[in-house]
Amino acid sequence: MARPKILVTRRWPVTVEAKLAERFNVVINQGDVALKPCEFRQAFKDYDAVLPTVTDKIGADALELVGPRTKMLANYGVGFTHIDMPSAQAHGMIVTNTPDVLSECTADLAMTLMLMAARRAGEGEREVRNGQWTGWRPTHLVGTKVSGKTLGIVGFGRIGQAMARRAHHGFGMKIVVHNRSRIAGDVLAKYGAVQADDLDDLLPQCDFVSLHCPGGAENRHLINSRRLDLMRPNAYLINTARGEVINEHALVQALSFDTIGGAALDVFDGEPNIARSLLDCDRLVMLPHLGSATAESREAMGFRVLSNLEAFFNGQSPPDRVN
Ligand code: DGY
Repeated sequence: MARPKILVTRRWPVTVEAKLAERFNVVINQGDVALKPCEFRQAFKDYDAVLPTVTDKIGADALELVGPRTKMLANYGVGFTHIDMPSAQAHGMIVTNTPDVLSECTADLAMTLMLMAARRAGEGEREVRNGQWTGWRPTHLVGTKVSGKTLGIVGFGRIGQAMARRAHHGFGMKIVVHNRSRIAGDVLAKYGAVQADDLDDLLPQCDFVSLHCPGGAENRHLINSRRLDLMRPNAYLINTARGEVINEHALVQALSFDTIGGAALDVFDGEPNIARSLLDCDRLVMLPHLGSATAESREAMGFRVLSNLEAFFNGQSPPDRVN
């Protein structure tokens, strides 16, 4: 029987690309540039499975075709709000993601951002590189202590919990969580955490707020000017979730008028384009979507996609099916 034909939309770790090529008839987008909707429509006619990533906007337009050959979208990444799920569903396409394997590294990056923002690491690095450092002095780039403070975690799934473990057991932080469903008492107890009834209740209690919820229409601008106003004037906002969760215009206002202490972002609305007004904010740390960017996670994500493909083409239900 002919091997299934699959399209990998970006370059992946070479070890995974090699394994995929052993099992499937693979085409890799060697140019490593995100495909356009018309290229996706063609791909859905030509391939049995398409393997997209967060940079592939597979909206309703990309799925507007009759009788696609593609029966599986095996996403490389945990978030899948870049895929129009009703359209995929209408074509009977199975969608899978890659949970678990990137949780630790994404939480490590959220900690990195929290520490960078609190200790003004971005400002310090810019000063050193620009040759502007004039030497140690008691009042120079004074930041905020992290240990023992209160951290609010919005979205208490695997990554939110990995963040809580680091912050509570490593830094003695008190943890308050907001989650759309109730978290079991024994899970909260592992991190000495309490669950707030409402996001509006959580925000005024916290010195740091870290976002770990899904993106998409449901959470678009969850953090808006009203909610930024609920944060303490010296609190910090950290985002490793999705750019659209924050209203960036409102964040720029909050940073410009010092109504919050600072922020750190790994994700942006409309990335890789970054609003000019964000670039002008000094008390803002920015990284280029590096949450899962370790050799270990990126390889494990690829092998997780491979397991999903193997299950699907062996007639079984893929372990990470999300629809
Ligand atoms: C994800 O997995 O959704 C990340 O944002 C990309 O690693």
